[in-house]
Amino acid sequence: MIHDPMRPSDSIGHTDVSPRETPGSIGPRGDMPPEEFREWGGATVEWIARYLEEVGELPVMSRVAPGDIRAALPTHPPESGEAFSDILDDFERVIVPGITHWNHPSFHGYFAVTGSGPGILGEMLAAALNVNGMVWRSSPAATELEEHVLDWVRQLLGLPEGFVGAIQDTASTSSLVALAAARHRAYPEAREKGLFALSRGCIYASEEAHSSIEKAGIVLGLGRDAVRKIEVDSEFRMRPEVLRRAVLSDRAQGIRPVAVVATVGTTSTASADPVSEIADVADELGLWLHVDAAYAGAAAMVPELRPAFRGWERAASIVMNPHKWLFTPVDCSVLLTRFPDEMKGSVALTPEYLRTRETGVATNLMDYGVALGRRFRALKLWFVLRYFGADGIRERIRYHVALAQGLSERMRAEAGWQVMAPVLFSTVAFRFAPAGVAPEDQDALNLELLESVNASGTAFLSHTRLRGRVALRLSIGNLRTREHHIERTWAFLNDFAAAERGVAGPPSSRRPAPPR
Ligand SMILES: Cc1ncc(COP(=O)(O)O)c(C=O)c1O
Repeated sequence: MIHDPMRPSDSIGHTDVSPRETPGSIGPRGDMPPEEFREWGGATVEWIARYLEEVGELPVMSRVAPGDIRAALPTHPPESGEAFSDILDDFERVIVPGITHWNHPSFHGYFAVTGSGPGILGEMLAAALNVNGMVWRSSPAATELEEHVLDWVRQLLGLPEGFVGAIQDTASTSSLVALAAARHRAYPEAREKGLFALSRGCIYASEEAHSSIEKAGIVLGLGRDAVRKIEVDSEFRMRPEVLRRAVLSDRAQGIRPVAVVATVGTTSTASADPVSEIADVADELGLWLHVDAAYAGAAAMVPELRPAFRGWERAASIVMNPHKWLFTPVDCSVLLTRFPDEMKGSVALTPEYLRTRETGVATNLMDYGVALGRRFRALKLWFVLRYFGADGIRERIRYHVALAQGLSERMRAEAGWQVMAPVLFSTVAFRFAPAGVAPEDQDALNLELLESVNASGTAFLSHTRLRGRVALRLSIGNLRTREHHIERTWAFLNDFAAAERGVAGPPSSRRPAPPR
């Protein structure tokens, strides 16, 4: 029952002041009537429950071809409203076959995720409330819950007090906002005058850093060239001494060092840069240290995994995505900073129509990003944290890591397979590398294997290049993934390898095209 202290009765119906529709009445019609909402809401929740139960039986990757979905949709929008039953039917008939199922237990591409039950329910309620938490008064609970939940996240990550922040849509936006703050520190005059009259500035990140850092360089007007790619070591970690030399060399040429981005959980191999040593360089040479832990950040909640994050408490800003490995539906990216004033100084702007009495007293979350309007994302994160609890989250993350490590051990033990990087978290970068096959032919084989496994519907993997060679990636992050799912995928990979060893000829002619 909805509780409204201003209302004598607690029944929703009593406050319905909208005129009842009567056939032929003048004026616009309103929303879906409550009875209909109830009926279809129930049916939709039932559909979701069944989907989550049965998603593991669907092919993971969609089998549609480019253009199929649009071809199945009417060219023109409907002139008259349609029955909700027809809309749901078309959702099942047209949309679902065009879905690659990220909630499938054998989805291992990119970084595997879970839209968990509590997260989905939180998302539904956020849509129902439909508030826009731009300033405190535009919905006090949206602002205060976000601040509070971010402080819970900070505690769970083992970060000291003083880190505050805001939820952004994605890590790309979080890093953009963090680097805007870094640019503001390096070029305080740029906020008003722009960068054109100023000297060049640089951002430093490893060769393995995510492309969002280069994108931030482009958007912030520093330019893509200004993002220096620092060499990595044999385990794909940034080399701090190379960073130091690069900053000193740029400085000697009059280039302003703006920020260094350390990644914990790089996109290709989930390697971890040595944050503590990078923090030393940042402190010595005056750089803003941003830590991109978009994927791996949640692992800092597990004590035995925390050493990989050593030194991140010295960062000026940190991003971690609950929508990656913290069971929260897309989108939800947590951006924390120790320097909220500089962050606000870089992007905040308050026109008259957004001034309120609470300005200066309460937080206005619009000050922490580019977007003015913001969804109530904290609600689903709150649901997830409360429903699973810190223990439950740790247990689930540990299980994913154990599955990934188990698989990597089996790969290492099997001739013809290479594990390309240490498995720190729940992502394995590997390669089928049969003896006697030239590296470039191995590349072609791995790409063929990728297409083959994805087209089979058994599992979904993605790929990368490491030191110029193709590698496949298997990431584990779905709450439904169990050992037998990993077994099935490993069996598929081994069948491919066995077939490969038994047949001669160039890779493309050996196997029929995968079924569609
Ligand atoms: C290390 C890292 N940073 C940033 C991102 C970008 O994430 P988002 O899609 O939230 O922008 C990714 C995406 O996989 C990533 O792996």
